[in-house]
Amino acid sequence: MKARIVTLPGDGVGTEVTAAAVTVLRAVATHYGHEFTFDEQLIGGAAIDASGEPLPAATLAACQAADAVLLGAVGGPKWSDPNAKVRPEQGLLALRAGLGVYANLRPLAVHPALAELSPLKNGKLKDVDVLFVRELTGGAYFGAKTRGADYATDECRYTEAEIERVARRAFELARARRRHVTSVDKANVLETSRLWRGTVTRIAADYPDVALEHQLVDSMAMLLLTRPGSYDVVVTENLFGDILTDEAAALAGSLGLLPSASLGDGRNGLYEPIHGSAPDIAGKGVANPVGTILSTALLLRHSLQLEAEAAAVEAAVDHVLQHGPRSRDIGGGAGTAEVRDAVLAALSEHVTAHRGDAAGARACG
Ligand code: IPM
Ligand code: MG
Repeated sequence: MKARIVTLPGDGVGTEVTAAAVTVLRAVATHYGHEFTFDEQLIGGAAIDASGEPLPAATLAACQAADAVLLGAVGGPKWSDPNAKVRPEQGLLALRAGLGVYANLRPLAVHPALAELSPLKNGKLKDVDVLFVRELTGGAYFGAKTRGADYATDECRYTEAEIERVARRAFELARARRRHVTSVDKANVLETSRLWRGTVTRIAADYPDVALEHQLVDSMAMLLLTRPGSYDVVVTENLFGDILTDEAAALAGSLGLLPSASLGDGRNGLYEPIHGSAPDIAGKGVANPVGTILSTALLLRHSLQLEAEAAAVEAAVDHVLQHGPRSRDIGGGAGTAEVRDAVLAALSEHVTAHRGDAAGARACG
């Protein structure tokens, strides 16, 4: 198949991990006979430096016209003056809004070979397989902001329609998993959370085959540590999802491992690792590319409907996490390029092995 992919390396380690992930997508195209074209555009601090804007109009237009968008990370100390008029993060938020990608999928799995890196004792990590669905284009991130001489406000606003569409996505995703949804809010205090809880409960009636449970966000922060194995799909609003998914990432052993997919109603999606620009290690060639490479698997699956290719990338990453080489954040000494090359080699082997399967099946049939 043919696909147009926009890449947005952004800032800090974003450029390094995006470059590594693109080589994996190119390899997938070669192995499976696809034609992927890559169009690199500016976002974040790099875009501010070049044009004064964190999301230039040309970038948004290219992303809207693409089949999928792969993003590295945005932000860094150079642009984080609290008095700055424009911030790199505004580019990312405007992109999420501009693409209408309201559902942010953040899968959390703990690789058995990395269990010892987790702050939790191994027994607690058994069966951890959670899919966070974070609402991505509403709430305090997008509400009105005011700043007075000695006060500031961030409006948190949700409409029923915004809650309903992300809740439906969560229930549908749960149907393909273990049929359990945990909805997280702060309904004992916040009005938006009471609307959230009421709306999710109403939508649940359309999915009688999926169990629904509600948790308050403070309690959920604790439950993620005490019984992470009891969750399937967790759906929550934008800010709570931002916070809970960093906590969840720590369970996996490193923030560098986790991918994400941001989806709207169409097929176009935005794919990015959940880690940030990591200015402390930027430019050193040591960033873990796994979160971004796994994001390409989500891209292949959700935007291009290439399930076998997605599974092949995941199998290749699995192999590397099991056998190494490993980057520093997960206890090894390998650089970005070494991990990338190991994934490429494992991918080749996987493809060859499965070609054999297919040929064998044909010979038998
Ligand atoms: C994330 C990040 C972003 C967010 C920042 C960079 C704006 O933390 O994707 O989780 O808060 O959404
Ligand atoms: Mg975050």
